[in-house]
Amino acid sequence: MAVKILAETLLSIEHITKSFGDNTVLDDLSLAVHKGEVIVVVGPSGCGKSTLLRCINALEPIQAGEIRLDGEIIEPNSKNITELRQKVGMVFQSYDLFPHLSVLDNILLAPCKVQKRAKAEVTAEAMTLLERVGLKDKAKSFPRELSGGQKQRVAIVRALCMHPEMLLFDEVTAALDPEMVREVLDVILQLAAQGRTMLIVTHEMQFARAIADRVIFLDGGKILEDAPPEEFFTNPKTDRARQFLHIFEFEAVKHHEPQEL
Ligand SMILES: Nc1ncnc2c1ncn2[C@@H]1O[C@H](COP(=O)(O)OP(=O)(O)OP(=O)(O)O)[C@@H](O)[C@H]1O
Ligand SMILES: [Mg+2]
Repeated sequence: MAVKILAETLLSIEHITKSFGDNTVLDDLSLAVHKGEVIVVVGPSGCGKSTLLRCINALEPIQAGEIRLDGEIIEPNSKNITELRQKVGMVFQSYDLFPHLSVLDNILLAPCKVQKRAKAEVTAEAMTLLERVGLKDKAKSFPRELSGGQKQRVAIVRALCMHPEMLLFDEVTAALDPEMVREVLDVILQLAAQGRTMLIVTHEMQFARAIADRVIFLDGGKILEDAPPEEFFTNPKTDRARQFLHIFEFEAVKHHEPQEL
């Protein structure tokens, strides 16, 4: 991936601590994300990847430190939290589309109701984006009529239509059949090529390697590694990251073994 010339910091996470009771999940963690940067977060199950994304979106309160987007503090009881949240688009593993609304109405809902934008303008934008992800002919369909990969592409378009400054992806392909993973990852690769700022949690290591400007390895509540993908995948500095990557190599081999009938 070409080296990017980085602009200013968009998201600044300074010494945050997040606990659930006496379980400290994020421990004095700091991270800066620059405009246009693509950061992939990896780490063992339960290490706090989803919690980190939820803190950034102020879905979880933090106990110490601060998170700033464009210089403004993000916290659940910020006065302008609705406005701040709109700057961060989030896509989850479960697409959370409203089942009783068509694809187009799912996309139009927040831009029209929350941002009070004109329906015609958002519709035109939605149709352009749906076309770009290969779903123009599904605008009138309902979520139940779509495959998992199609639903996830709709969820991405829905997030984009809010004009976020940054996108957070939390294992968006984890619930998909293998043949649908590619079509969703391709859309995210397109977004990276457009210079979008993204924080991506994924277990797809090939994809992480292809898309990341930096890979963050999270474990024990801390960032143990923060490195360009080539460095992280070929020469991790910590034993924990080495063990983690080893498990993935093992899984990849296991999946290629012939199945017994
Ligand atoms: N709402 C909650 N209440 C209490 N504990 C929670 C809550 N959400 C997460 N945790 C705990 O925080 C820790 C981190 O969870 P998190 O979901 O962030 O991990 P993760 O890295 O996303 O894992 P996975 O790869 O399995 O998705 C876990 O120990 C989990 O049990
Ligand atoms: Mg998670």
